[in-house]
Amino acid sequence: MVKITDLTLRDGHQSLIATRMRTRDMLPILEKMDEVGFYALEVWGGATFDACIRYLNEDPWERLREIKKRVKNTPLQMLLRGQNLVGYRHYPDDIVEKFVVKSIENGIDIIRIFDALNDIRNMEFAIKVAKKHDAHVQGAFCYTISPVHTIENFVELAKKLEELGCDSICIKDMAGLISPKDAYELIKSLKKELSIPVDLHSHTTSGMAPIAHYVACEAGVDILDTCFSAFAWGTSHPPTESIVASLKGTKYDTGLDLELLAEIGEYFRKVREKYRGLFSDHSQIVDVNVLVYQVPGGMLSNLVSQLKEQNALDKLEEVLKEVPRVREDLGYPPLVTPTSQIVGTQAVMNVLLGERYKVVLKEVKDYVKGLYGRPPAPIKPEIAKKILGDEKPIDVRPADLLEPEYEKMKMEAEKLGIVKKEEDILTYALFPQIAVKFLRGEIKEEPIPEPCREEKKEEGIPTEFRVEVDGEIYHVKVEPVGGYITEIKKAEAKKELKNAVKSPLQGLIVKIKVKVGDKVKKGDVIAVLEAMKMQNDINAPWDGVVKEILVSEGSSVNAGDPIMIIEP
Ligand code: CO
Repeated sequence: MVKITDLTLRDGHQSLIATRMRTRDMLPILEKMDEVGFYALEVWGGATFDACIRYLNEDPWERLREIKKRVKNTPLQMLLRGQNLVGYRHYPDDIVEKFVVKSIENGIDIIRIFDALNDIRNMEFAIKVAKKHDAHVQGAFCYTISPVHTIENFVELAKKLEELGCDSICIKDMAGLISPKDAYELIKSLKKELSIPVDLHSHTTSGMAPIAHYVACEAGVDILDTCFSAFAWGTSHPPTESIVASLKGTKYDTGLDLELLAEIGEYFRKVREKYRGLFSDHSQIVDVNVLVYQVPGGMLSNLVSQLKEQNALDKLEEVLKEVPRVREDLGYPPLVTPTSQIVGTQAVMNVLLGERYKVVLKEVKDYVKGLYGRPPAPIKPEIAKKILGDEKPIDVRPADLLEPEYEKMKMEAEKLGIVKKEEDILTYALFPQIAVKFLRGEIKEEPIPEPCREEKKEEGIPTEFRVEVDGEIYHVKVEPVGGYITEIKKAEAKKELKNAVKSPLQGLIVKIKVKVGDKVKKGDVIAVLEAMKMQNDINAPWDGVVKEILVSEGSSVNAGDPIMIIEP
C-alpha cells in the first residue's frame, strides 16, 4: 500500500499561481480533506509565508492555526529550507530554533527539511530542534543530474540524514528531472540501505512524473506527493485522483476513496476558476527543454527573459552551452533557488560580456567563498583563484559566522510597536521590511487579476513579469523610479554621450558609490546594478573625474544605457 501526501495547499498553488491561494478558499474544504486518509497534507512553509504577508495581507501563523482547527486527524506538513527557513538567507541558530518551535506549536506535525546544495550542515540544526520537539522530520535532498550526483552519493546523503534522526526521506525532484529508470534505481537502492520510509516528490514539468510515480511504486516507494487535478500538471505535480485511480487494484492500492476525492476535486475546480487569471500557459504546458538541455524549465524561461531584456536572444544557444560549464566550474550545484539564478545569470554575463568571469556576480563570489555552504564537488581551482584572488574560502558552516539575532530583533520589533504575539517577532526577524508594513496593517490584499481575454500587444516595455524558478513563481512588477526616463531622453537627444560609462546589463541601479567631482581609478566600483535579483559591481573603465551622474539609486536601466560621465 502506497501513501499519498497532498500538496494542493502549498506546492500546488505555489507552482501554478505564485502561491496566491487565500486562506478563505482553503478553509471550507479542509474537513473533507481530513476524511480522505492522506499520509499528510502539505499546507505551510516554502513560499507561503512570504506570499501571505507580501501580497495577501494574511498572517501566516493565523492561517496555520485555522487549518489545524479543521484538520484533526491528518498530519500537517511544511517545507523548510534548512537554515534559510522560509526566507532567502541564512538565519542564525537562535532564530531557527524559535521558528521551528513555533511552527510545531501552531500545528505542524511533519517538517520536510532541505538545503539547496544538499549541505547537511545547513540542515542539521533545524533537524535537531524539530526532533527535540517531537516533530516528524523528513530529510529531503535535491535531486539533480551531474557526474557527482550518482545513486551512491544520494544514498550516502540519505544515510547521513537517517543517522541524524530523520524519520523519513524525500527525493525532492523540484525540476521534474527524474526519469522513470532513475527513479526506479534510486528508490531501489534507498530502500535497500535505509530502514525509514521514502517519499518521491517530483514535478510534472517535463511530463515524466506520473510514469516515474508508477515505477517508484514498483521499486518500493512508501509515499507519493500529488495535488488535486485542478492544481496539478505543468510545473506542479501529478493529480491525486489519477494516481489513486492508477494504483487501484494493484498491490500499491492507496485505499483512498475516489468518490470522496472527486468531490474535493470539484471544489478545487471552482477555486481554480477564481484564480484563472493567474494561470499561464507557460506553467501548464509540458516543457521538453529540461530533457534537451538539462536546464530546468523555469530556469530556461529565466534565461530567455534575461536575454530578451538585454536584446540578445540570439545568444541563447551560446548561453545554454555556457550554463553547464559554469555549473561544472562551481562544483555542480543542483539548479534550484538560489543556485539556478546564480549559475544562470553568471552564464549570461560570461556570454554577453565576451569574456568568462569578466564581471563576477556578488552572489557567485559569496558562493565561491562558501557562504551558501559546501558545493557538491570542489570548485575548479583556477576559477576560485580568479574570483577570490588570495582570499580564502570559509570552511565552517555559514551560520557559524552569524551572531544570535533573536533578542536584537525582539527589541527592535517592540520599539516599533508591532508585536502583538511572540510569532510577530519571528515574522519581523525573517522579513524585516515587509513585516513592519504588514504588522502595521499597511499591506493591502492584492486583487486577483481578471483572466486576460486576448494578449494585449502593447507598445513599449512590459512592466509585469511572472518569473518562475524551478517551480517557484515570483510575480515581479517593474516600474521606473525617479526621473530616469526623461534623463534617458535627454541622453538620447545628445546622441552618443562622450566618456559615458554604460550599463552592461538591463537592471536596477541599487547603489551609486561616487558623486560628481570624485576622482576614480580604473576598476573602482562606481555603482551597483541589480539584474535578475543579482548584484553586480560596475567598475570605472578608466581613470578620471565623475562629471555627471545620469541615474539615481532606484533607476531602471537597459543594457548600453549611459550611467555616468567620467572624464579621463
Ligand atoms: Co516541489
